[in-house]
Amino acid sequence: MVNVYLLNGVIRGFEGPFMIHPPHTSLVVLLFLFVCASPEADRPTSRIQVSTFGKTKEGEEIQRYVLANNRGMEASVINYGAALVSLRVPGRDGKMADVVLGYDTLEGYEQDKSYFGATIGRYGNRIARGQFMLDETVFRLSTNDGPNCLHGGVRGFNKRVWTGADRSRSDALVLELSYTSQDGEEGFPGSLQVKVTYTLPLESDELQIAYWATTNKDTVVNLTNHSYFNLSGVMSREILDHQLLLHALKFTPVDEHLIPTGDLQPVQGSPFDFTRPTAIGSRIDQENQQLKFGRGYDHNWVLERSTGNGLQPAAEVFEPGSGRVLEVLTTEPGIQFYSGNFLDGTARGKGGVMCAHRTGFCLETQHFPDSPNHPNFPSTVLKAGQTYRSITVFRFSTRETRAR
Ligand code: GLA
Repeated sequence: MVNVYLLNGVIRGFEGPFMIHPPHTSLVVLLFLFVCASPEADRPTSRIQVSTFGKTKEGEEIQRYVLANNRGMEASVINYGAALVSLRVPGRDGKMADVVLGYDTLEGYEQDKSYFGATIGRYGNRIARGQFMLDETVFRLSTNDGPNCLHGGVRGFNKRVWTGADRSRSDALVLELSYTSQDGEEGFPGSLQVKVTYTLPLESDELQIAYWATTNKDTVVNLTNHSYFNLSGVMSREILDHQLLLHALKFTPVDEHLIPTGDLQPVQGSPFDFTRPTAIGSRIDQENQQLKFGRGYDHNWVLERSTGNGLQPAAEVFEPGSGRVLEVLTTEPGIQFYSGNFLDGTARGKGGVMCAHRTGFCLETQHFPDSPNHPNFPSTVLKAGQTYRSITVFRFSTRETRAR
């Protein structure tokens, strides 16, 4: 339709001073059709809708970006904390529901202590005593979790204002968010330029999150997303009946401050064995020192990677009631499975629902916690001039029955 309309316009346009005579008209028409058929001309007007989400305490205006694909899946992201604020996906009956915890207002995100939906950096998870050594220098970070630095410190990437840009393509909606973290911010060395892109393909139900960063001084980087999922779409409901599968034979046990001991411990025969789909709640209250330290699950699993560093399956979650299935794929070596143990019903979530204990779970793809202090863990060092890249995909589908 659009092309025909444009075509008429073009032909009419030629009926002026640049009048083209009949034998040439068909040539022009052919040429124009050729241009229209090329992928460039096919590019749709982007369907990312932008609106004002609120104003920060400092008076900065924050945008909400809505990415909606042809299948009805819809992701909303704000440039405060580069946070995913809602994710609507179909259930087995075709009904759409929002499957991530969040707040209705910007104030909610400014006051948030649970990292709902946020981009986490510069270093996701804990660095023991907020300290590490790099190139023979000791760096001291801001501490915000007892003696530790958690999720980037007192004011991590989740409390920063990012710059949004629409980078949509003909086959996908693409939102790019950028932020420059200053040299010395929260104690980390090097000015770090970061980009996070949220990509929603027009024809498939998956949200891809890609991370990119460069630094001007050697530093450590570990970026992730801290979405809390509840696949039932009912945020007052516990997630204990969700069945979880993790592609991991080992996990990194922790001490009482949730700092890895450095061991890689086999999961076999323990409540940490999710090599077969198992209800999250089936062993969560067992007498187990690791579960006690985490007040439930709050641990890093070592992902089995069959082929190098590419995108590989990490986890799969099935919610029997709605039939929703979430698959997580990543290029990262680890995944933090956190069962929402610190949610205590004091924060008011979307629709006024209080965020109660274990009503959401996180699958934070990452390098292992406290890697800068564990030379035996995969390195999180980013050298000056090098590029950091990481990709995670949240893929949705449905399954008919409870049986696999
Ligand atoms: C991560 C940590 C948890 C907790 C949550 C946020 O998952 O590992 O211990 O801090 O973030 O509450």
